[in-house]
Amino acid sequence: MEAEIVCTEPPPLSRNETLVFAVNGKRFEIKDIDPSTTLLHFLRSQTPFKSVKLGCGEGGCGACIVLLSKYDPVLKQVEHFTISSCLTLICSINGCSITTSEGLGNSKDGFHPIHQRFAGFHASQCGFCTPGMCMSLFSALVNAEEKQRPDPSPGISKLTVSEAEKAITGNLCRCTGYRPIADACKSFAYDVDMEDLGFNSFWRKGETKELKVSRLPSYSPKEHSCIYPQFLKDNVKSVMLLNSRRNSWYTPGTIQELLSLLHSDVVQNGTKIKLVVGNTGTGYYKEAEIYDKYIDLRYIPDLSAVRRDNSGIEFGAALSISKVIFSLKEEQKLNSCLDGNMVFKKIADHMEKVASGFIRNSASLGGNLVMAQRNYFASDITTLLLAVGSSVSILEGHKHEKVTLEEFLSRPPLDSRTVLISVHIPFLEPIRNNDSVETNSGLLFESYRAAARPLGNALPYLNAAFLADVSCNKNGVLVNNIQLAFGAYGTRHATRAREVEEYLAGTGKTLSVGILNKAVELIKSSVIPEEGTSHAAYRSSLAVSYLFSFLFSFSNSVDYAISGSPFDGNDGTLLEEACKRNNDDDRSQIVRPPLLSSANQVIESSREYYPIGEPIIKSGSAIQASGEAVYVDDIPSPPNCLHGAFINSTKPLARVKGISFGSDSLPNGVTAIISFKDIPEGGENVGSKTVFGFEPLFADDLTRCAGEPIAFVLAETQKYADAAAKMAMVDYDTKTIDPPILTIQEAVDRASFFDVPSFLYPEKVGDFLKGMAEADHKILSTEIKLNSQYYFYMETQTALAIPDEDNCMVIYSSIQCPEFLHSVVAKCLGIPEHNIRVITRRVGGGFGGKAIKAMPVATACALAAYKLRRPVRIYLDRKTDMIMAGGRHPMKITYTVGFKSNGKITALHLDILINAGINPDISPVMPSSVVGALKKYDWGALSFDIKVCKTNHPSKSAMRAPGEVQGSFVADAVIENVASVLSMEVDSVRKRNLHTYESLKLFYGSVAGDSIEYTLPTIWDKLARSSSYVDRIAMIEQFNGSHKWRKRGISQVPIVHEVLVRPAPGKVSILWDGSIVVEVGGIELGQGLWTKVKQMTAYALSTIQCDGSENLVEKVRVIQSDTLSLVQGGFTSGSTTSESSCEAVRLCCNILVERLAPLKKQLQEQMDSVNWDILILQAHLQDVNLAASSYYVPESSSVRYLNYGAAVSEVEVNILTGETRILRSDIIYDCGQSMNPAVDLGQIEGAFVQGIGFFMLEEYLSNTEGLVVADSTWTYKIPTIDTIPKQFNVEVLNSGCHKNRVLSSKASGEPPLLLAASVHCATRAAIKEARKQLKSWGSVVDGSDSTFQLEVPATMPVVKKLCGLDTVERTRDKSQVPTRAEVV
Ligand SMILES: Cc1cc2nc3c(=O)[nH]c(=O)nc-3n(C[C@H](O)[C@H](O)[C@H](O)COP(=O)(O)OP(=O)(O)OC[C@H]3O[C@@H](n4cnc5c(N)ncnc54)[C@H](O)[C@@H]3O)c2cc1C
Ligand code: FES
Ligand code: FES
Repeated sequence: MEAEIVCTEPPPLSRNETLVFAVNGKRFEIKDIDPSTTLLHFLRSQTPFKSVKLGCGEGGCGACIVLLSKYDPVLKQVEHFTISSCLTLICSINGCSITTSEGLGNSKDGFHPIHQRFAGFHASQCGFCTPGMCMSLFSALVNAEEKQRPDPSPGISKLTVSEAEKAITGNLCRCTGYRPIADACKSFAYDVDMEDLGFNSFWRKGETKELKVSRLPSYSPKEHSCIYPQFLKDNVKSVMLLNSRRNSWYTPGTIQELLSLLHSDVVQNGTKIKLVVGNTGTGYYKEAEIYDKYIDLRYIPDLSAVRRDNSGIEFGAALSISKVIFSLKEEQKLNSCLDGNMVFKKIADHMEKVASGFIRNSASLGGNLVMAQRNYFASDITTLLLAVGSSVSILEGHKHEKVTLEEFLSRPPLDSRTVLISVHIPFLEPIRNNDSVETNSGLLFESYRAAARPLGNALPYLNAAFLADVSCNKNGVLVNNIQLAFGAYGTRHATRAREVEEYLAGTGKTLSVGILNKAVELIKSSVIPEEGTSHAAYRSSLAVSYLFSFLFSFSNSVDYAISGSPFDGNDGTLLEEACKRNNDDDRSQIVRPPLLSSANQVIESSREYYPIGEPIIKSGSAIQASGEAVYVDDIPSPPNCLHGAFINSTKPLARVKGISFGSDSLPNGVTAIISFKDIPEGGENVGSKTVFGFEPLFADDLTRCAGEPIAFVLAETQKYADAAAKMAMVDYDTKTIDPPILTIQEAVDRASFFDVPSFLYPEKVGDFLKGMAEADHKILSTEIKLNSQYYFYMETQTALAIPDEDNCMVIYSSIQCPEFLHSVVAKCLGIPEHNIRVITRRVGGGFGGKAIKAMPVATACALAAYKLRRPVRIYLDRKTDMIMAGGRHPMKITYTVGFKSNGKITALHLDILINAGINPDISPVMPSSVVGALKKYDWGALSFDIKVCKTNHPSKSAMRAPGEVQGSFVADAVIENVASVLSMEVDSVRKRNLHTYESLKLFYGSVAGDSIEYTLPTIWDKLARSSSYVDRIAMIEQFNGSHKWRKRGISQVPIVHEVLVRPAPGKVSILWDGSIVVEVGGIELGQGLWTKVKQMTAYALSTIQCDGSENLVEKVRVIQSDTLSLVQGGFTSGSTTSESSCEAVRLCCNILVERLAPLKKQLQEQMDSVNWDILILQAHLQDVNLAASSYYVPESSSVRYLNYGAAVSEVEVNILTGETRILRSDIIYDCGQSMNPAVDLGQIEGAFVQGIGFFMLEEYLSNTEGLVVADSTWTYKIPTIDTIPKQFNVEVLNSGCHKNRVLSSKASGEPPLLLAASVHCATRAAIKEARKQLKSWGSVVDGSDSTFQLEVPATMPVVKKLCGLDTVERTRDKSQVPTRAEVV
């Protein structure tokens, strides 16, 4: 269908207007701005509101979320929704009001209850994600108030628990593990059971519900909502032209205006134009292109309308996906056709899994379709719409055409001037055949998607949508018509499986098992991913699984029919049941069950050293929530500041001949480019330092790994710098250079190893040969491979260097070891160390990645600042950060183990090859870390050969529990293998090999401590009881027996984790008013170091015992680390910096107390009681030295100690899709006497969830040249709230007195990460069940059904492969039919 549109009026192109909007109620007017400016950039650079954080710049993390409020002058209504400010273009918010987290409340005007509850539920650690989380929750609260629900009781909102959880599904947090965040959100829900809310600072266990509610910071929708400024209501203008010096932004108000604009002189050939709606497409396609003209389509009514007629609903292409979802759901109220409603509802449900709420709110329907059409984007929406026979209206030139979606997709890619106007979804009704026998017709519709995260922002491996028109006659179920659409599986567009459709509907056959089998065969040859698609076989197998499940959704009827059941004369019932089921599934989703069920936190604290042991709120958490906490990139740029970006090598080993930008001049905005040639005389090309020496800053003439910095671009803005770095073309030469070493095997072949100093090489235990001789059984040379993991701190690497007088340099760096950076910069610049000052206030997540790897980033800034005599700053984009980070060490382990028939292991030998990358970094300590954790079982005798391989990869660095997580996992893999070979319960083999205190001493020597400190056996039994381990094994057995397509597994895993306590400095000063300032060497990374230090200061000073000294904690402020103020700060790593910093502070306080004691005695003689403030005032007047510093050096007996814990996890594996759900995890972790159980609980949960990422989700992949290709939130998936344990119970065990520990406390930062291996082991157990079943069906299992290896991470394709990619094809028995719940 074609129609010509005639342009009647000229568009208003000549008017220059002003952009007007509000941020937190404040008016902003802009006349001239580059239209490619994002809202995030504007807010962070032009306003004081820094709560919007840049976490990814691609819509994938939620750190940048703001609330957008928009006034509809016709409806006289304001609508509120979240958007990602990193993708939203500033011009598109004309007339809107933006609210950021500091707009909700702040330290000056008072915090919002959201901020207070986040703080009180201990839901903020590093705080970088927190403002975004708060905005997601705020939006949910604001929108809940609009709902027709009864008014809740005071203090509570209209939000439901399910909505509260869903509000944050698109927000990433790398620190907390989400549980406390979910609790803070749920505390606002009217249907929450207060008992289900976790540990918090508002109430104590056992209080009544009413009391609990009353203790929460009060929430009142009226008081705490957002106000849309009146000036915007008066100011709304729909048409705007905004010109900047180079580019313009147009908002045509009609199709005619759009047309005349597209064909006017303003947009002549050659002009680069961009049609834009939500601009979310740039999150994926990260366009470097700069457009001359931007045309915003949202003001054209035809593109924003929802129209309904007899044939269906037409959606304007500029409608947001959220609005389409809303309309589809609303349609149920209007439409009388039950089948059609069901289809709309299911499309809407599926669309709710597209991206995240804040993306769907601005992402348009048309944008999605155009991306699919033009760029072959892996769209869900095209697949859904294709299945239901949708069509689209397009405007090409002056031609207005309506074509089917299928035709639209198959056309050549749209040009930039063709406009998608609308999308039509037909009303669907079954064909009512006049034939009296076939009157019982019905529609069945189902959609599917398999993605790494079920709800949280992950593109699918494959999606599918099936629509069937079926009817029943006396022979069974007949498929009248069927539409099978598949997409995102490595195909250019969503496609229809025509051959299968024709086969199923073509010849009037009734469904039978034979037909299904044939259909399954046909689908395998229809859904074939394009060459080069990852996991191709897996994706094809998903198509089979989904088709099979769909066809069997009316399986009962099919089965009856094919088994010749007596339905003759009653043929209506079968179909009605099938259709009802199809609709019931739908209805069951109306009230969504919460994602998480109740969690339990058991905390035993001690008041012996009050306020040590109190679960006080983390220092600074409220300002973190409001976004006022200052991170390095929040420091305003000094005048004249330049921004840097790295040009990284893409080759692993090559000569660098030169760098060019495609023209003779430097790219736009670029001031300079520096490289190793710019190192000043006397300086050295060094960029980092470890205890093993210095490492280079830039590649010199030779680059030695992909990702290595070759040069540093300096430009006027970060955007210019990043663009130039991307544009740079490096000329490489590989002639006469040996091939690079890219694998562990190549390193071995070429003997490319780093030395491990003998004092760092771990010691063997016992006599391996003797142990093997005692063994009844042996497993020889079994191989395990472990991959890398990326830190994914939410704040990427960042630094600001400011030149100071007399060749000095001040550097603000987000770093875990400022002291080392200090030396590196001095050496690089060739100036004395006293010329350098490194300041670090807080770090937005480190996990080891901001120890060594932060140094080159800051050093490059310092070098540039030194050379150019201008301040220089950098904030790495996520891609560059991922390319340079290195991450966790990959390993190859080969082991031989001997054991008795009863499961007792007698000897273990391992050959461990560690891929260290190009520089040693901290890699020489890896052998001892691996072995330290591996020794958690009594192996009888233990021997090993460990090599640290030097390869042409970016050097691997410490990542939370470096080496320990691998060692601990390998230990369990050995145990599992032994159990499989012996056909014994894994649990009994584990238990048999747990250490006795004697064997512990044999393996760990004096580090084992006293026997009373060996708490693992107690923990092990206690956990088995508290988690009902034995009962659940029986229940799981039962479940597995009665479920064919879902299998469950459970596993209990112990850990023994050795830590090292390092020296630490501290300084405590008491000011005139009695307030106290503390400096420590340790850095606040979110781990709660400052909070514990505050508690320690308060405790230690309170020993002076004067009035008011018991409440000193409020008087203490811990200040930023400054390397000239406090030297020898050392590394913040290894889980023990909090305790050593605390001990250093305690020593300072002891000195102060000693100095104050005589004065106090003197004052006490004069007055009855001495108040703290008076004591301090007098001390100042009497010239008592009120500043003390110390350097804590642990005694040899305190240097190393062991940490213990155990976890039980239960998982469920979906055999058809490979999806794993963690049903429950229980942890008991020994914290000694926790200094702050709330902080330690947060560390335990956060570490565990990061471990889940390592074991189950995160693939840090490189290409064949070693260049990281998993370099975005699109390709690297950390856990989100929908992938954590549904039920999560944690006990922070107080194991009492430990004489060699700091006030009996023990570390919590890293060891609990190892416990996530329980999830992996449980997954393995579930897969084992699946393989057993497969074998029992007579199917060939690739490898043994029990002694298989489960890779790390156990992603969906990995799990599915082990469960059988062809499970469905091997199914012949109708009793193996899956239910819908088993596949969706
Ligand atoms: C983090 C994230 C996750 C996502 N996850 C999913 C997912 O799981 N499944 C899925 O299907 N999609 C997903 N998407 C894609 C998302 O749906 C699209 O980005 C969005 O719909 C594009 O709409 P937009 O209005 O932002 O388009 P824009 O970014 O404004 O435009 C995109 C492109 O389409 C062109 N265009 C836009 N509208 C028209 C029109 N009417 N006529 C002609 N050209 C037009 C633009 O010129 C541009 O080239 C995700 C996106 C993001 C950012
Ligand atoms: S920074 Fe915007 S979503 Fe990540
Ligand atoms: S607190 Fe969420 S990322 Fe650190």
